[in-house]
Amino acid sequence: MKITKICCIGAGYVGGPTMAVIANKNPHIKVTIVDINQARIDAWNDPDASNLPIYEPGLAEIVEETRGKNLFFSTEIDKAIDESEMIFISVNTPTKTYGKGKGMAADLKYVELCARNIADVATTDKIIVEKSTLPVRTAQAIKSILDNTGSDVKFDILSNPEFLAEGTAIQDLLNPDRVLIGGESEDAIESLASIYGSWVPEHQILKTNVWSSELSKLTANAFLAQRISSINAISELCEKTEANVDEVAKAIGMDSRIGPKFLKSSVGFGGSCFQKDILNLVYIARSYNLHAVADYWEQVIILNDHQKRRFADHLISTLYNTVSGKKIGFLGWAFKKDTNDTRESAAIYVADHLLNEQANIAVYDPKVSNEKMQSDLNHLNTRTEEENSKLVQATKTPYEALKGAHAVAIMTEWDEFKTYDWKKIYSEMKKPAFIFDGRNILDKSEMENMGFEYSSIGQ
Ligand code: NAD
Ligand code: UDX
Repeated sequence: MKITKICCIGAGYVGGPTMAVIANKNPHIKVTIVDINQARIDAWNDPDASNLPIYEPGLAEIVEETRGKNLFFSTEIDKAIDESEMIFISVNTPTKTYGKGKGMAADLKYVELCARNIADVATTDKIIVEKSTLPVRTAQAIKSILDNTGSDVKFDILSNPEFLAEGTAIQDLLNPDRVLIGGESEDAIESLASIYGSWVPEHQILKTNVWSSELSKLTANAFLAQRISSINAISELCEKTEANVDEVAKAIGMDSRIGPKFLKSSVGFGGSCFQKDILNLVYIARSYNLHAVADYWEQVIILNDHQKRRFADHLISTLYNTVSGKKIGFLGWAFKKDTNDTRESAAIYVADHLLNEQANIAVYDPKVSNEKMQSDLNHLNTRTEEENSKLVQATKTPYEALKGAHAVAIMTEWDEFKTYDWKKIYSEMKKPAFIFDGRNILDKSEMENMGFEYSSIGQ
């Protein structure tokens, strides 16, 4: 099928950047990204590209170059579905918060709504592309909904999971390690492969069966997260033995079989994917009675929760076993640098733990608003909205957050944190002035020479 029009349902962290790059590299294809969230679509259409709903280095430039030419953002979902030959489903698949599988399984209601929407509207044959991360065998459910519409429209289902990481999404999309396409119909696979073929070398476009493709996505995230939990487990042992986790990571990473990436010890991984996808993997394994498999992967999450908790506990015990009424300055709230995304950020859980001990927290993050921080905390339902807004406040500058603070907690590895006037910060903090570097980004001896009591992860 010759593709001239693409529709993508879901204008989020994946749909937005992915389609912007596809449109940019395929000027002959009209790409329309649709969403039910009017405010989000309005932000994508904002003439000032610095107001896009997502912050990603390089994204605004690509959107500005392509929007209005062959890239469009709209809430007219039915129209975009009907006129397109290929439809990407890129909606959220969060962990279920109710019913069977609550807290573990992926909630597929948004995906199913998309399938039903397509089934209702489509009058011509379509290729449906699963871009969302889905449990293995979801394509079967989508196919069943689409094949029972009573019309003679033909649907081919492809799995094309997205491997971009936030903060580097544009680079990841422009230079992917691989593009994965799972499907049955060779024609449909070739139609999608030719779109990526506009900029991705052919040997990097991997074609598999649908189930392998679906399961590869969950497996990739599980392996990546497992590396972080592995090095974080070693970080705790380093703290007891005077080994240095960054030195250990370098030493093992130089083994070409292990490799250097994803070995940075931290306060714990966050983000919308790792935890959700591993919980989902665990749930799927249990549903097949594979309990040893499920227990194995669940440990990655257990260790990650432990890492966040022990960071907060260490801060409290160092501050003479109480943070009640003390000001703690947070640097960073996003789950990693170069994004405004805060989903599952370690900062939220560390803050919640400190707030239970009645700390006052002032936060500076270059890209996250006070409103977002409050909504992250309110979402936990640990205390009232009034209490959260009284105890936690975002500041306009880092110096405001740290002035008069008993301790600094570095939660995100934003580059700018390293460039601050740390002498000034020291002079304005309560003494002893403590730094808890949850990302190991500052130089320990430099900080100690200035007078700080510095502790980091695994050192
Ligand atoms: P997101 O929450 O940022 O965006 C999803 C969008 O879908 C929202 O704007 C929502 O309003 C919209 N939506 C939901 N139901 C809809 C419907 N029925 N019709 C129209 N729009 C609808 O989510 P995201 O981070 O972009 O993730 C999307 C999927 O991609 C998930 O399955 C996720 O696991 C996967 N993924 C995410 C990343 C990442 O880094 N964020 C990376 C790879 C894969
Ligand atoms: C991840 C996967 O990397 C990506 O392939 C997938 O498509 C979506 O999920 P993302 O969550 O956006 O991407 O960012 P990632 O760079 O993987 O970081 C996830 C978390 O792990 C962050 O909190 C990060 O700070 C943390 N991390 C990462 C570490 O603590 N140490 C590391 O060495 C790497």
